[in-house]
Amino acid sequence: MAREIFVLGTDTDVGKTVISAGIMYRLLLKGYKACYFKPVSSGGAYIGGDFYSYDVSFVKNVSGFPEVEDNINPFRFRTPVSPHLASSLENRKININVILDTYKELKKKYDFILVEGCGGLAVPLTDEGYMQYQLIKELGLGCVLVSKTTLGTINHTLLTLKFAENIGIKIEGILFNGYNGSRWEEDNIKTIRKLADVAVLGIIPKMEGIHVENLKAGNLKAVFDELTFIEDLIAGTKD
Ligand SMILES: Nc1ncnc2c1ncn2[C@@H]1O[C@H](COP(=O)(O)OP(=O)(O)OP(=O)(O)O)[C@@H](O)[C@H]1O
Ligand SMILES: [Mg+2]
Repeated sequence: MAREIFVLGTDTDVGKTVISAGIMYRLLLKGYKACYFKPVSSGGAYIGGDFYSYDVSFVKNVSGFPEVEDNINPFRFRTPVSPHLASSLENRKININVILDTYKELKKKYDFILVEGCGGLAVPLTDEGYMQYQLIKELGLGCVLVSKTTLGTINHTLLTLKFAENIGIKIEGILFNGYNGSRWEEDNIKTIRKLADVAVLGIIPKMEGIHVENLKAGNLKAVFDELTFIEDLIAGTKD
């Protein structure tokens, strides 16, 4: 049976793509038949007449994952806004059944699937108000929560954990991203540990020269080579 993880953020721009790229890199290096799936992407660029999502391009570039775009990113939009708005601005409806069917096909082919969400749990995917948390439930996935270490993270993280609990979504644990070693960040992590009954799966440092839209990976691979907790995350063994 495939191991499946939904990479959920407390917000947009918290590092879901960066972390997905690092995990995919480690998975492929270890010989896993691993797949990255981005149901809906907003933001990208035309290259030679074809449109590519920044997120998907970055993950493919860093990890060497070769799958064709249509199979792993059924809905991609140019406008870097919430999916429901991008879909309405660009006049292309997001059909949830297409997402579910695309995912079903990937499950036949891969033994590890990493799904990158859009922003946080309460993000509308369609104009009619179909929400990201509904998709997570329909796909039957557990989540790894990517949280910032800086100001605002206590509120965002606790809200997400409580909301997930209330609607019956499992959060396997938190990945804190962008840690720069300050005592304020240290205290944020300590406070979240104290107030929430959740595992901290790992802390990912602030990296140099990394920029998703420009496909700049900086020292991402070198950093992920050293992150031993990724093995536990892959295996799903950490409590
Ligand atoms: N650990 C890190 N160290 C340094 N910079 C980082 C780190 N993680 C993320 N960033 C920076 O933050 C930007 C946003 O990260 P990323 O695109 O992974 O966020 P996201 O949660 O996937 O956003 P979106 O909701 O748009 O998909 C990156 O382009 C990068 O510049
Ligand atoms: Mg992203």
